[in-house]
Amino acid sequence: MEKNIAVIKGDGIGPEIVTEAMKVLDRVAEKYGHKFSYEQLLMGGCSIDANGVPLTDETIERCKAADAVLMGSIGGNTTTSPWYKLPANLRPEAGLLGLRKALGLFANLRPCVLYPQLSGACPLKEEISAKGFDMLIMRELTGGLYFGERKTEEIDGVMTAIDTLKYDEKEIRRIAVKAFDVAMKRRKKVTSVDKANVLDSSRLWRKVVDEVAKDYPEVTYEHMLVDNCAMQLVKNPAQFDVMVTENMFGDILSDEASMITGSIGMLASASMNETKFGLYEPSGGSAPDIAGQNKANPLATILSAAMLLRYSFDMQAEADAVEKAVDNVLSKGYRTGDIMSEGMTMVSCSEMGDLVAKEI
Ligand code: IPM
Ligand code: MG
Repeated sequence: MEKNIAVIKGDGIGPEIVTEAMKVLDRVAEKYGHKFSYEQLLMGGCSIDANGVPLTDETIERCKAADAVLMGSIGGNTTTSPWYKLPANLRPEAGLLGLRKALGLFANLRPCVLYPQLSGACPLKEEISAKGFDMLIMRELTGGLYFGERKTEEIDGVMTAIDTLKYDEKEIRRIAVKAFDVAMKRRKKVTSVDKANVLDSSRLWRKVVDEVAKDYPEVTYEHMLVDNCAMQLVKNPAQFDVMVTENMFGDILSDEASMITGSIGMLASASMNETKFGLYEPSGGSAPDIAGQNKANPLATILSAAMLLRYSFDMQAEADAVEKAVDNVLSKGYRTGDIMSEGMTMVSCSEMGDLVAKEI
């Protein structure tokens, strides 16, 4: 198959980790007889430097024209980088949010799996980590607080900031349907996370999820309050299969879930619209402190490329091969610094990419 992949390397460690994922994709193309062509695009801080804005129409149009988008990470040090002296709508993150919205990527899939080889890197007690876990967080990505109206103004001489959390039933229904659909292909359990004891948006969320659940009698589902969920994630992560939640709760809970896998450097993600089109990026940030040092963990980006093959290109065998290759490299004891433990072999970002490519 011939496929055109838009590539946004981004800022910080982005270029390093995406280069390794492309290395792995090239190996997949070679082995399975595909042709992947890449078009590199700017978004985030690098786009601010080149174009004065974090996202251009050109980048949006080129992404739309591609078969899928592979991304690294964007942003810099929020206290020292000049990008954060700009108004909020011109900062790197605004580019990512704008791109998600422009491409209609409302469903963010973040799989969190504890690899047995990395159980030593899991910060939880052994009695909990020994049970392992394999969950998928389905985060709503284009609504809620991150897209609601916001303003900062002086009211009666007092500086006041307002952010708005708004969801309509259509937005809730389409993400709930995605969650139940994917649960049918997994262990058939959905946990819907909200704050229905306080928020109206959560009460509507609950009502709509209840309606959607009726169409999936085989799926066991439950509602869980977000504060309890944060606690359950560290107490008994094995209980979760598919977790579905609104934008901000998903942002926070997915970072927490990633940490119990050992490192955020392991967490892949797919952001999808209603079709097979998607943007694939690691869940972690741009880690400016280690940028350019060939130290970053490229596995989350490589696993995101596997999701790209699976969800956008329908290449199941190829995706399996990439995931298996990552598993093999970990079994052989190779680790980047973030997941390093005693007795293992420490490798650089590019060596990790070479090792995974060689396993395919
Ligand atoms: C993420 C990130 C982004 C988000 C930021 C960079 C805007 O934290 O993908 O989780 O909040 O969605
Ligand atoms: Mg986040």
